[in-house]
Amino acid sequence: MTATTNAPKQGPLAGALAVVTGASSGFGADFARILASHGCELVLTARREDRMKTLADELARAHGTVSHVIAASLSEPGGAQVLADRVAALGRPVDVLVNNAGFGIHGDFLDHPWERQRELIELDVTSVAHLTHAFARGMRERRRGWILFVSSIGAFQATPTYATYAASKSFVLSFGEALAAELKSAGVKVSVVCPGVAATEFIETAGQTPTLYQRINMMKSRAVAEAGVRAMLAGKSCRIPGLQNSLPVFLMRFTPRRIATALAGVFMRNG
Ligand SMILES: NC(=O)c1ccc[n+]([C@@H]2O[C@H](COP(=O)([O-])OP(=O)(O)OC[C@H]3O[C@@H](n4cnc5c(N)ncnc54)[C@H](OP(=O)(O)O)[C@@H]3O)[C@@H](O)[C@H]2O)c1
Repeated sequence: MTATTNAPKQGPLAGALAVVTGASSGFGADFARILASHGCELVLTARREDRMKTLADELARAHGTVSHVIAASLSEPGGAQVLADRVAALGRPVDVLVNNAGFGIHGDFLDHPWERQRELIELDVTSVAHLTHAFARGMRERRRGWILFVSSIGAFQATPTYATYAASKSFVLSFGEALAAELKSAGVKVSVVCPGVAATEFIETAGQTPTLYQRINMMKSRAVAEAGVRAMLAGKSCRIPGLQNSLPVFLMRFTPRRIATALAGVFMRNG
C-alpha cells in the first residue's frame, strides 16, 4: 500500500506509527479511522483478519494509509509478547499505543466457566500492562509518544453482573492515571477514556440483552473514539464521554460504596 496525498502532512501524529488493539470492530475500527485521518501509519491487530484487511483497504483509499494487519490473540498467555515481537519486526518505533481490545462477561461470576474469566483477565488486564511495558519504554527514551487506554464507567464502582469486567476496568483506569503522572516529564502523553454503553459488538459478546438504561444512554462508537483521541492529544489523563455518563460518575463520588454497588447492579441486571 503506498501513501497518497490524503493524509495530513502536518500535526503531531503525521507519520507516527500507531498500534490499535481490537481493530476489527467497534471503537478500535473507529480509532483506526481517526488516527488514519491524522496521518498515522497503522498496526491493526485483533483475531479477525478479514475484517482488518477490509478496514486497511478502506483507510488506504480514504487517506493513503499504510496499515500492517497482525492477527493475534491477546487472551492467551504470551499473546502480548507474540504481538510485541511481530511489531518490533517491522523495524519502526511505536509512537502511539491504543490499548482498546477487551470484552465483558454478563451474569453472576460463578455462573460462567473459569476459563472465560481467565481469558477476560488476560485480555483486559495482563495484555494491556504487557503491551504498555513493551512499547512505552521506547517512547520514554525518545521522549515522544501517546498512549490511550480504554476503560469504562464501570471502573468507578463495583458492578454486580459484570464483576470481573468492572474490576478489570478499575485496573485500567488506575494504571493509566498512574502512568500519566509517571511519564508526564518524559514527554509521553497518557490518557484513559471511560465510555458508558455504546453501539458496538460489546453487549452481544458479553451475552447481555440491553437494559432500558443502556438503550436510553447508548452512544455512537465514533463519538466515543473521537473523544478518546482528543483527550490523548490534549494529554488529559481521564475522559468520560457524554453527560449521561460523566454526571452519574460525578454523583457516585458522594454515594456510599455499598449503595453505589447496589445501584450499578440494578442498572445492569436484565429482567
Ligand atoms: N461498547 C461499550 O458499551 C463499551 C463501554 C465501555 C468500554 N468498552 C470497552 O471498549 C473496548 C472496545 O470494545 P468495543 O465496545 O469496541 O467492542 P467490540 O466491538 O466487541 O470490539 C472488541 C475488540 O476486541 C477484540 N478482541 C476480543 N477478544 C480478543 C482477543 N482474545 N485477542 C485480541 N483481540 C480481541 C475484538 O476482535 P476479534 O474478535 O477479531 O479478536 C474486537 O476488535 C473494550 O475494551 C471494551 O471493554 C466498551
